[in-house]
Amino acid sequence: MYLTEEQLLIYKTQGFILLPEYISRAEVAIMKAELSTLSVENSPKKILEKDGKTVRSLHGSHTNNDVFNSLTRHPFIVEPAMQIVGTQVYIYQFKINLKAAFSGDLWKWHQDYIYWRKEDGMPRPQVVNAMCLLDDMNEFNGPLFIIPGSHKEEMIDVLEHNPIGETTTSHNSGESPTWISSFSVNLKYSLNQKTITSLVSKYGITSVKAAAGSVLFFDSNIVHASTNNISPFGRSTVIITYNSIENIPLPVINPRPDFLVGQNYQAVTPLASDALSQKNSELHTQDKLDRRNLHPLPHQ
Ligand code: SIN
Ligand code: MN
Repeated sequence: MYLTEEQLLIYKTQGFILLPEYISRAEVAIMKAELSTLSVENSPKKILEKDGKTVRSLHGSHTNNDVFNSLTRHPFIVEPAMQIVGTQVYIYQFKINLKAAFSGDLWKWHQDYIYWRKEDGMPRPQVVNAMCLLDDMNEFNGPLFIIPGSHKEEMIDVLEHNPIGETTTSHNSGESPTWISSFSVNLKYSLNQKTITSLVSKYGITSVKAAAGSVLFFDSNIVHASTNNISPFGRSTVIITYNSIENIPLPVINPRPDFLVGQNYQAVTPLASDALSQKNSELHTQDKLDRRNLHPLPHQ
């Protein structure tokens, strides 16, 4: 499903476009059911909040989960991504931010592209994020804040670079790796208050409030943030980053793991629009068959 010319223009002007209730409720329910199984697996792909127990994000789940893999190839998401980027795309990054009820922590003001350029050697910002809401995002549960139009600013030089080592978030296998500073509360390249004050006075500020199933496409240079969640409402979202197949990162000295920086440069081919639901029923049928084989019914 491609964007209209008018929607593309909104994306280019504001640096984002929100498509309300774009993915069906049934598809959201399927993904939420999968989420409860993913969240329990212990691995470095699972980032915890400062409390050491609440899951903050899960990375790379599209490589080992068929339902989330289908989401990355959902035509409603890949087709606009190709249109925005202007070429075929591959999956650069896949993450699920859970922002749990009562304990989900904030994301400081930042732009994404500086991480991808400095840490990963991405040549150009020919890349787009698709944020798919698995819960309603409202004024209570730490919605995404955006400075509309800020993607047009050349601001890299005024960024406040937080030194590595001040980070506190841990994951499950001993010492925290340095890449954690791109995903913890103390973000490595967050923007300082003076910069945010001047950008907000120039462009204003907005927050994304939308129902589960809505999808937000946003520019890698848009300035964004979100507050912590002290409400009883979870705020889980999937963020898929699609990079142009003509924008493959250059080699860097300390490459981040491939679950953070996708190394499968194969162009994503869109599936049929009902593929995610189909995949789910196939999995359930297989699951039932497996269970029958383990515990055969008495009269069969
Ligand atoms: C991000 O900037 O990648 C995450 C923001 C959020 O989940 O609120
Ligand atoms: Mn971001």
